[in-house]
Amino acid sequence: MASLNQRVPSYLRAIAPYQPGKPIADIARDYGFQEDQVVKLASNENPLGMSPKGREAMLKAAGDLGRYPDGNGFSLKQALSKKFALDPATITLGNGSNDILELVAHAFLAPGKESLMSDHSFAVYALASQAVGATLVSVPAQSQDLGHDLDGFSRRISANTAVVWIANPNNPTGSFIPGDRLESFISSVPISVLVVLDEAYTEYLSEDDSYPAFEWVTRYPNLLVSRSFSKAYGLAGLRVGYGVASEEVTDLLNRVRQPFNVNSLALAAAEASIFDYEFLARSAKLNRQGMLQIQQGLQTHGISALQSWGNFLLIDLQAVNPLEPKAGAVVYEALLSKGVITRPVANYGLPGYLRVSIGTSIENEAFLKAMPFALEALKACKVSAA
Ligand SMILES: Cc1ncc(COP(=O)(O)O)c(C=O)c1O
Repeated sequence: MASLNQRVPSYLRAIAPYQPGKPIADIARDYGFQEDQVVKLASNENPLGMSPKGREAMLKAAGDLGRYPDGNGFSLKQALSKKFALDPATITLGNGSNDILELVAHAFLAPGKESLMSDHSFAVYALASQAVGATLVSVPAQSQDLGHDLDGFSRRISANTAVVWIANPNNPTGSFIPGDRLESFISSVPISVLVVLDEAYTEYLSEDDSYPAFEWVTRYPNLLVSRSFSKAYGLAGLRVGYGVASEEVTDLLNRVRQPFNVNSLALAAAEASIFDYEFLARSAKLNRQGMLQIQQGLQTHGISALQSWGNFLLIDLQAVNPLEPKAGAVVYEALLSKGVITRPVANYGLPGYLRVSIGTSIENEAFLKAMPFALEALKACKVSAA
């Protein structure tokens, strides 16, 4: 008799599970810190937490948790329609925008079909594709910014391609594709291929960089735009995001969606948060200031990060010790011992880099203060490797 393991499709067994940022409690326990001594800059969260309006609405909703949530999320969809002039029939709500990505994979991918992603882009595109037995094609990144090479994507689209994943801004590189370039690419993709434009970090873009993605949805029936409440809105722990696409695509996603995929607390908090413009502006401002603080601090340590349009920076550590191929892991471990959690990105094909999320000025300072120690640890590897 075949074991359970053997009966599972081989493409499922081949999946390497997602590696999330380390929780504060784990590091406090492992290294003997109090939890409030640990700084977490590992998961691109909002250092301000959630919007006060969202919190108030969530606490109110907590009084009625004996009931199932509204499975259609009517009220949140109405609020999104009002804010962005959207037809509610084009909105899909998700348990985080991660859920939208999974729904896309379930609806549009299967064994024999391909999805395309950039070499260094969000890990869930690969996981979601592999989980349904589709073939993932990794398109080599541009050398100058490690971001998406859209010409490369165009060259790789074939009769088997069903989904193209584009994150803009991209995680973990922080790179950005200007709107005009992006639209010209989308308009060139065959209508039978779904383009997923993942805009998890879009709220951090300046007005000059912003582009009308929701308008594009009305022009391109094979475009889905996904957005998150986890970043600028600060609702990562509640899990809520949404996708906007043609009615036809939305209807297909709805067929594979769990009936109550977004919980009541998340629905209430998201609805109240989307109109909290003051909180959004404060979050974006803190991010700009924090990014500058970290960039300047890194400069004094003789290292630099790639230009970023998100709420994180990708630091290039390769020159610190050219003999150490896993520079990111070395610095990550050394920072952990100082109570600072960052994100190594070897699993994104970037072992010589480290990703750091932008925190409060105090958190950024703690990271910068621990960096000389971590860089020394990296340089010391050179001695042992030589
Ligand atoms: C590019 C990108 N897309 C989607 C997500 C998923 O976010 P969530 O599921 O919290 O909305 C993330 C999270 O880090 C991300 O970086």
